[in-house]
Amino acid sequence: MNTPLRVGVAGAGNVGTHLARRLAELGDRVILTGVWSRRPERVRPFLDASVPVTDQPEALMPADIILLAVPDRVIGQVSEIFRPYEVLTAHTSGATPKEALRTERKGLFYPLQSFRKEKPEMNWEDIPVFIDAVRPSDLELLRRLALLTGGEVIPVTPEMQPGLHAAAVYANNFTNALLAASRRIMETQGWDFRLLLPLIRETVARLEEFPPEAVQTGPAVRGDEPTVQTHLSWLKDRNLHDEAALYEAVTRYIIRRLKK
Ligand SMILES: NC(=O)c1ccc[n+]([C@@H]2O[C@H](COP(=O)([O-])OP(=O)(O)OC[C@H]3O[C@@H](n4cnc5c(N)ncnc54)[C@H](OP(=O)(O)O)[C@@H]3O)[C@@H](O)[C@H]2O)c1
Repeated sequence: MNTPLRVGVAGAGNVGTHLARRLAELGDRVILTGVWSRRPERVRPFLDASVPVTDQPEALMPADIILLAVPDRVIGQVSEIFRPYEVLTAHTSGATPKEALRTERKGLFYPLQSFRKEKPEMNWEDIPVFIDAVRPSDLELLRRLALLTGGEVIPVTPEMQPGLHAAAVYANNFTNALLAASRRIMETQGWDFRLLLPLIRETVARLEEFPPEAVQTGPAVRGDEPTVQTHLSWLKDRNLHDEAALYEAVTRYIIRRLKK
């Protein structure tokens, strides 16, 4: 049996608290050396009492891996703290290349999920983790860790990373923005956005069985131009110009890419 991996978590925001919870669950396979937060008292309510929280980054050492779950803009600066230890540091950002780290042993440990620390349940078995590292032996360490946290483990190169993150932006951020537009339209009529939740759930549920192209419905894919024009006029008449522009852009995309 492998000796347990010693892992420290730097940054106790959305990702850091979820990682810490998951690592703490892994019992004798991972030793969580600690969670570094500049304000431990703010983090405590989100973590089990057994999780060691410290306001000293040095207290995470000795460790095999330090996971940096800090905002993208400070990854380089925070990694400096761990440079003297020659430890593998891996950040958790899909948008940032591992080269942003200023330690010698650099890695990426990107769980492809949206985390909120206020929502404690998270099915890690479902979450793919994308990994990268400068040294092959470090990639193996990250693979070992990712196999323990659960889900599929996928190596990613710096060339592939922007494409991966862009796809995630479409799947999560853009979908959410479309739903915000949908809510704005509902509210002009005084209707609750929640009335759309069953439809949204059904749309997502179908993707378990079919690719999105196979389940596209609606006026654009049917080539129903009169309905498209009615919707656009309705939106513009109510000064919903941003929503109308979005409607036109997505409709164009559906006609070009999804219409059979
Ligand atoms: N949120 C997501 O769903 C998600 C998903 C995948 C990947 N990511 C990536 O994961 C990383 C963390 O994202 P997040 O959403 O967890 O961010 P977050 O909620 O803002 O948390 C980041 C934490 O970093 C610490 N921090 C902030 N500035 C710092 C500094 N100058 N020095 C040291 N620590 C600092 C803070 O912890 P303390 O105040 O406790 O010290 C803060 O809570 C980012 O790279 C992000 O791109 C996020």
